[in-house]
Amino acid sequence: MRFVVPAGPPRRLTAAAGAVLFLGWISGLGATANSQVPASSSTPPSARHGYARSRSAAARARQPVRPPEPTVDCRVAKCVALTFDDGPGPYTNKLLRMLAVHHAHVTFFLIGGNIKGREATVREELAAGDAIGDHTWSHPQLTTMSERAIKSQLTRTLSEIHRATGVSTGLMRPPYGATDHHVARVTRELGFAQILWSVDTNDWRDRNSKIVAHRAVSWAHRNDIILMHDIHPTTVDAVPKILDGLTKRGFTFVTVPQLLAAHPLKPGKAYLDGH
Ligand code: NI
Repeated sequence: MRFVVPAGPPRRLTAAAGAVLFLGWISGLGATANSQVPASSSTPPSARHGYARSRSAAARARQPVRPPEPTVDCRVAKCVALTFDDGPGPYTNKLLRMLAVHHAHVTFFLIGGNIKGREATVREELAAGDAIGDHTWSHPQLTTMSERAIKSQLTRTLSEIHRATGVSTGLMRPPYGATDHHVARVTRELGFAQILWSVDTNDWRDRNSKIVAHRAVSWAHRNDIILMHDIHPTTVDAVPKILDGLTKRGFTFVTVPQLLAAHPLKPGKAYLDGH
């Protein structure tokens, strides 16, 4: 679920309004962000960015269906990062099959409370070369909470991700894009980069595959991060059209870590796109 923002053509403004509602502080934060990662410094960087390195025996036994493409260079390729929030859910496996057909890599921002019973789905995401991030335990608006409660929302989900997959992640997305200096401080301490978005398809509000596909395809610019939700069947059904349409426009589908590979991810810093 997202904040209601006006629909319509000035999509950069509406997307930015959702994302930067609480973001007056971010400019310049990167310069002062502490790059130490006390809570997860023992985790390999590749794992912290959502790629499987040490997997469970069950996951190791499987061959990755869509291995990551480390050679993709978004300074050369016309990249776009599709992101899917609030899962895993009942339609996520269907989405993974659609992505496999197009060899497309995406990023999933997971709700910790949704992982139990769908651990295999999360492992499939990693095995396919997708990235995963922490989207809190129960999707609260973090800017209304104490730092202690913010930390609990994030660490509980991180533990659940680790229990399900054996890996960690250095990506988080605050629900509703709602962030402030408290959220920034906690994410910096925990070693998370905050990943927002530059294109909001409003797919949670308009449960219409044609509309969602049209927005994603026509509003995307190079290096955008596109927000969608894999808990809505209408969104998942829009994905083949989105992949076809963006492929025709010359886009390469990359994960958020791939998109931001030229900008080392700084804990606590908020990223709206790959520029
Ligand atoms: Ni969400």
